[in-house]
Amino acid sequence: MQKRYLPVTLVAGILALLALAGYMLPEHKEKVPRRILMENTGGAVVFQHAEHADKLKIPCETCHHESREAREDVRPCKSCHGVVFDAAFKKNHVTATTDNASCATCHHYELKRKKWGHDRHHQEIGVDCRFCHHENTDIEPEPQNCADCHEQGMPTGRKADQGVPPNMADAVHARCMTCHDDLFARGARGCITCHDKVNTRDKIPAAGRISLDPNYTDCAVCHKEAPQKLMLGSMDAYHELCMGCHARLNKGPHGKKQCAQCHTSK
Ligand code: HEC
Ligand code: HEC
Ligand code: HEC
Ligand code: HEC
Ligand code: HEC
Ligand code: HEC
Ligand code: HEC
Ligand code: HEC
Ligand code: HEC
Ligand code: HEC
Repeated sequence: MQKRYLPVTLVAGILALLALAGYMLPEHKEKVPRRILMENTGGAVVFQHAEHADKLKIPCETCHHESREAREDVRPCKSCHGVVFDAAFKKNHVTATTDNASCATCHHYELKRKKWGHDRHHQEIGVDCRFCHHENTDIEPEPQNCADCHEQGMPTGRKADQGVPPNMADAVHARCMTCHDDLFARGARGCITCHDKVNTRDKIPAAGRISLDPNYTDCAVCHKEAPQKLMLGSMDAYHELCMGCHARLNKGPHGKKQCAQCHTSK
């Protein structure tokens, strides 16, 4: 490059940068960002947020699926869709997630008691009382509620210790499993044949972080699949949302050859 062009190039460069900065800044001080610059390893994506919401009239909750109720408190996708659900995610997400109520979207732990047909098992299916209640009348003189002697607790998958009553879940499940091992093999989908899954959001106190029952934090207690199979990682969450809609409508960039229409710079 000839030396005399240098100042011109510099000025042009600075002007271009300023123009870009102006373009990136929101036009009004509004709650809904107009454009969003997403830096990532695939190359920066400039997302026309307001155009998608206003011009294309896509409802907020199509993309912000967590905020059906609290629209004003939209949180970054990555606060839930970790890049990977590894040890670092486990450690950090408890403090990184600012909204208490969101804990329950993943830690939806309450499985309530549901009518499972106690009398029907005896009367129609012909299961003897003492098949489930203790045969040994020294232990359980009269058939009664298992909870009188077995303490509350989550399934542990461990075998009962001799002489020590296992917790309520292990005790009852051990009996049901004799005939319903198929339900237990299905993981969370099996649980809801016998239990109701209750949304715990409304129980979370308005202020202060909830302390979760440590028994309930392990997804694998109920799910057979690892968290990363249950929840999309960050790139897949964006790609599935953005390219998924574009592909369905056949409008907007999607497909293997159109990466550069979103990832405008490397
Ligand atoms: C086509 C999808 C889409 C639609 C429709 C949409 N948004 Fe967004 N919005 C996004 C994405 C993607 C982000 C960036 C989130 C991130 O940084 O992880 C975002 C970010 C935001 C943010 C900034 C959050 C932050 O702190 O990073 C707010 C506020 C917001 N949206 C509100 C709204 C509102 C209100 C509506 C409806 C009028 C709406 N959005 C419609 C996709 C959408
Ligand atoms: C509060 C936590 C949370 C936030 C914030 C969040 N997600 Fe999700 N997302 C989830 C959970 C939990 C699931 C799995 C739910 C299911 O399978 O029904 C999910 C599922 C998805 C799916 C799979 C399809 C579907 O709708 O079930 C896509 C795509 C997705 N999220 C994209 C996004 C994008 C993009 C953002 C940001 C604009 C975002 N999510 C913000 C928790 C969150
Ligand atoms: C996007 C889903 C998601 C959200 C939202 C979420 N968690 Fe988690 N949490 C997980 C996953 C995944 C694990 C790891 C569980 C496993 O290994 O099976 C976990 C584990 C934990 C653990 C155990 C950590 C350890 O070291 O064993 C605690 C405590 C916890 N979460 C608390 C919270 C709290 C408090 C909130 C709300 C502020 C919250 N979580 C929101 C997905 C989530
Ligand atoms: C298939 C296993 C099974 C059979 C068969 C069975 N029970 Fe039960 N029973 C249970 C379980 C489990 C509970 C604990 C409460 C619950 O989950 O419904 C229970 C609870 C009870 C209770 C306490 C009920 C309450 O609400 O306090 C009585 C009393 C009882 N059973 C008597 C009987 C008698 C009598 C028979 C035979 C006619 C019988 N059970 C047959 C499994 C069984
Ligand atoms: C009156 C107290 C009492 C009641 C009621 C009771 N249990 Fe137990 N249970 C015990 C004790 C004590 C042990 C430990 C005894 C042992 O290991 O020999 C035990 C052990 C068990 C075990 C592990 C050992 C075995 O028998 O396989 C199972 C399973 C079990 N109980 C299921 C149940 C179920 C299901 C109910 C209700 C239908 C129930 N129990 C009601 C006191 C009780
Ligand atoms: C075949 C039916 C059945 C299946 C499948 C089943 N449960 Fe249960 N479970 C019961 C019954 C009946 C009880 C005793 C009554 C009650 O308290 O709900 C019980 C008790 C429990 C308890 C103890 C509640 C307490 O009061 O301490 C927990 C926790 C539990 N189950 C969790 C699960 C989970 C998690 C799964 C799936 C991995 C599951 N259950 C699958 C029938 C079932
Ligand atoms: C001795 C075998 C046996 C035991 C033990 C047993 N069940 Fe069953 N159960 C059956 C049979 C047989 C049926 C009827 C299957 C059908 O309706 O097709 C049934 C049906 C059911 C159903 C309805 C199934 C459905 O898909 O809708 C539920 C729920 C159930 N049992 C729960 C339990 C619970 C909870 C326990 C333990 C407390 C238990 N069973 C213990 C044999 C058993
Ligand atoms: C106490 C049992 C239990 C635990 C622990 C649990 N889940 Fe679930 N989960 C369920 C049940 C039950 C369903 C409903 C299954 C169905 O409808 O087929 C479910 C459904 C889901 C779904 C499907 C979307 C929905 O909401 O219906 C996702 C995603 C999910 N769980 C993620 C997680 C993650 C991530 C963790 C760990 C942080 C976790 N779950 C821990 C019981 C549990
Ligand atoms: C619910 C549907 C839907 C979702 C979700 C969606 N889009 Fe779009 N997008 C469209 C449609 C429709 C067009 C075509 C508009 C036109 O041709 O006028 C489009 C066009 C585009 C374009 C090309 C035109 C422009 O605005 O520059 C880009 C780039 C784009 N979208 C990026 C994204 C990104 C990034 C996301 C995810 C954060 C996303 N879109 C999510 C429907 C969607
Ligand atoms: C509709 C727009 C769109 C298209 C088309 C698209 N992407 Fe993306 N991509 C995104 C968005 C949005 C993100 C998330 C940005 C962020 O993390 O902030 C992303 C993230 C990425 C990441 C970063 C992953 C990470 O964890 O850092 C890579 C790599 C990537 N995309 C590759 C591709 C490839 C390869 C293609 C073509 C096959 C493609 N993308 C097509 C919008 C798109």
